[in-house]
Amino acid sequence: MMKKLVSFMLTAVMTMSLLVGCGSGSSSEPASGTGGGGGSADKGGGNVQVGIVLPTKDEPRWLQDQAQFETILGDAGFTNQVLFSQGSSATEKTNVETLISQGIEVLIICPQDATAAAASVEAAKAAGITVISYDRLITDTDAVDYYVTFDSFSVGVAQGQYLIDNVSGTGVPLYLYTGASTDNNAFIFFEGAWSVLQPKIADGTFKLVNSDKAQELSGTAELTRDQQASILGQTTTNWDFDTAKKLAEANLTAAGKDMKGDVAILAPNDGTARSIADVFATDSDITSYIITGQDSEKASVQYVIDGKQSMTVFKDTRTLAADSVAMALAVLKGETVETTTTYNNGKIDVPAKSTDVVVVTKDNVQSALIDSEYYSASDFTGL
Ligand code: BGC
Repeated sequence: MMKKLVSFMLTAVMTMSLLVGCGSGSSSEPASGTGGGGGSADKGGGNVQVGIVLPTKDEPRWLQDQAQFETILGDAGFTNQVLFSQGSSATEKTNVETLISQGIEVLIICPQDATAAAASVEAAKAAGITVISYDRLITDTDAVDYYVTFDSFSVGVAQGQYLIDNVSGTGVPLYLYTGASTDNNAFIFFEGAWSVLQPKIADGTFKLVNSDKAQELSGTAELTRDQQASILGQTTTNWDFDTAKKLAEANLTAAGKDMKGDVAILAPNDGTARSIADVFATDSDITSYIITGQDSEKASVQYVIDGKQSMTVFKDTRTLAADSVAMALAVLKGETVETTTTYNNGKIDVPAKSTDVVVVTKDNVQSALIDSEYYSASDFTGL
């Protein structure tokens, strides 16, 4: 009761400071290793209102999100702390516990492992904290209040459709790569890609190279989760650059010359796409390759400009961070939280807000990424 009262008063004070534009904001100083994650820390050492837990610092994608959170929450005058799980569910759990002990009222968390994160958010819920699942859905628990995400099915469709639109002839070798099986999004991306690629595999436009499970299922338009998992089991990069590189090398070593030449590659995201592209670029029997990606990481935008990666999907982290912050602020102010859809997490339908994505190729780097001020032209060469 007391905690709620204090929390309400604090909210009122912070809301007023927001209104008069003189809030305390956040700092971008690194935390002193708390929770093993690092990130930004609340300067005053006092109450942190919004806690954010992101999967890893080692992928530029999540540093983009961190920067957006710190800017938006800081500008709005809300104390916040961003911690990274560094690929470990145990660190993630410690991070959540740290944030709970700092008195957060809202937890925004992108899980390292969809099911393992359930225990952490259940602990947060038990402490009266509102839980927002960020980008990746936490599954098999009722302790998720809201979900803020990009339209991941559309990401997969865009990747698959790009390959379809840019190959010619029939019998084009198709190499499949997917994300981590612990990430619900990896299934949704693949589901989206499969929805457009499967008819083109069935009609002979593509021939599958590196997954006999996908081959077995090539007549099936809609796959069950278990069927998807069997394909992910053969094609997963685990979202890891090195795993992606090694898998691509193994696939090319195993592939006969009839599976090389002009090829198409479904790569799940930018980091893995760069690793896979580098491997394909050095195989003398590969005459050309088309490869997908997502996230519009700077390094991949440069690859796209240089013709080393064919496309990337732009997921504007400004929008996603702003949407989750808007949700957090609505919670803190006791207002109605706006959602547009729901996602079933295996236990409940989680109220969600979904954001559209944009396909980026060499032709629209300028309009999609520079004109929108996501990046500046000086970040790249040869634009
Ligand atoms: C995100 C992608 C990201 C991937 C690897 C996914 O859940 O949606 O944007 O590239 O994880 O971190």
